[in-house]
Amino acid sequence: MHWLDIHIYLGIFGPSLIVLHSTFKVNGLVAVSFYSMVAVALSGILGRYLYLQIPRNIQGHELSLNKLNDLDQKLTQLLKQRFAFTDPMIRQVEHLTASSHLESKSTLVFLFTLSTDGRKRRRAFNKFRRENPVVHKLAKHQVRAMLSLARQKAVLHQRIQVLNRVNQIFHYWHVIHKPFAFIMIIIMFVHITVAVMFGYKWVF
Ligand code: HEM
Repeated sequence: MHWLDIHIYLGIFGPSLIVLHSTFKVNGLVAVSFYSMVAVALSGILGRYLYLQIPRNIQGHELSLNKLNDLDQKLTQLLKQRFAFTDPMIRQVEHLTASSHLESKSTLVFLFTLSTDGRKRRRAFNKFRRENPVVHKLAKHQVRAMLSLARQKAVLHQRIQVLNRVNQIFHYWHVIHKPFAFIMIIIMFVHITVAVMFGYKWVF
């Protein structure tokens, strides 16, 4: 299991227990820790989403732009060689996403459009499948293989288009996630120290 998966599991399970522990009576200094925890856990969902938009190798390391362009080229070659895709068809696959218009958009519009892109791509793919002349000449399993390659190419092409912007937002995202995590932990230790000083003991 990937360390990030354990992090996410604990990052959801831990705060859920803290919410129960608080019995919804949150006030005083510890409230700062509590709401920092809420901010960290909620921002984690966005962080996880951004993390997935950045192509990585099996060890979770980010792939360089050169490597991504090489992969994109390989997929283009495969589509041309195995399924006789022409250049206009390749361009059609590359434009099955909204990403080409995204660079100039504000962060919120960018994230919203990105999140709806998968649905739009699925619809565009169904249209592509119906109208693509190659499909009618292929057996069922070949159509599946061709669509799978075309989908990989469309997704990769989109990830390359938005890579800079996603990396930039992910960088700023750390600025919320990390400091709030530290605020939460520091105040939590103050809270525990005060509780012990006032005589609270382990009940078991
Ligand atoms: C109270 C709970 C949590 C705490 C204290 C916490 C703390 C942290 C810290 C200290 C980092 C390192 C940040 C950095 O290197 O700049 C981090 C990274 C991250 N966390 Fe959390 N986190 C919590 C919950 C979550 C949850 C619930 C999610 C997802 C649903 C999540 C997703 C992530 C992601 C995607 C990263 C970035 C990993 C990377 O850059 O490679 N976190 N977290």
